[in-house]
Amino acid sequence: MYSSKRNMESNTTEVSVHSGMLKEVLEGLGKTQKTLPSKFFYDKRGSELFEQICELDEYYPTRTELSIMKNNIGDIAGQLGSGIQLIELGSGSSLKTRLLLDHLPNLHSYVPVDISNDFLSSAAEQLQSEYPNLEINPVSADYTKPFDLPDTNEGIRRIVYYPGSTIGNFTKDEAGDFIALISELIGKNGGLLIGFDLIKDRETLIAAYDDEKGITAQFNKNILTRINRELDANFNPDAFDHKAIFNEEKSRIEMHLVSQKDQTVYMMGSKITIAEGETIHTENSHKYSPESFREITQPHFRTEKTWTDENELFAVQFLTKKHSVLKD
Ligand code: AVI
Repeated sequence: MYSSKRNMESNTTEVSVHSGMLKEVLEGLGKTQKTLPSKFFYDKRGSELFEQICELDEYYPTRTELSIMKNNIGDIAGQLGSGIQLIELGSGSSLKTRLLLDHLPNLHSYVPVDISNDFLSSAAEQLQSEYPNLEINPVSADYTKPFDLPDTNEGIRRIVYYPGSTIGNFTKDEAGDFIALISELIGKNGGLLIGFDLIKDRETLIAAYDDEKGITAQFNKNILTRINRELDANFNPDAFDHKAIFNEEKSRIEMHLVSQKDQTVYMMGSKITIAEGETIHTENSHKYSPESFREITQPHFRTEKTWTDENELFAVQFLTKKHSVLKD
């Protein structure tokens, strides 16, 4: 099914997506500490569950980031300036996007970037109907790798918007590489508006990733359901428990799936054995202080301003590109 040469072009993409996914999944499950890449959470069901997570009482990041944006939007818009090209990483269907667009009336253009072409087109279409005078240039790309932006005249300032504390899902090394990539993308005079989650007490953190209603547990286990469907595997998601731990040394929440028993799983001809109590590490969500975040950004960016909420749960930061690493 996945290797037929007779596939039409549209299926060819599917073949390569699936074989790429198979390779990454088998690689992760072959490690001593089994892992699965968290990007595989987001199939249709996973994206729906993530939206439900964002509404949970315990999951403070979404509503806190929105409230920071609302409370400081005049100041934020002033920092970004007028006539800019605003590039949002992620398709930009959120309330935060609209808030920015409402307060940046002289935008040169808005460029949502997303790996999912379908999601991107429908979000861009919806936005265009709400903002008929705005130039919207969607770009379908994996933004963790180098990609091209639509041309602008010399002198148009490019500002990347990266909300949602998604930067926290990268390891610190990956986050550093990603910041370097953004710095390259925006050229000179560019800027970055980014949301990141702050370090806080363990109890609040654990509750946010292990909620009462068990939605995050469903979200975590859904990765196995997806692998069953797309990679012809036979995981029993009910034979795993969801676990969220705070790894203080690495300043991150880790999500794991804990095997309830010794089990054997088959996936496209490969056999995977999992011992009782063994875990599959499915996600990291790093928490920063303004200082530890600066360690990642400072090789390329100068921190201009940081906004936070009254409980200091979350931060939104505006950074501008350093002209010369030596000078700054
Ligand atoms: C997308 N990302 C920022 C979320 C987070 O908080 O790390 C993903 C998530 N995982 C469990 N709950 C939310």
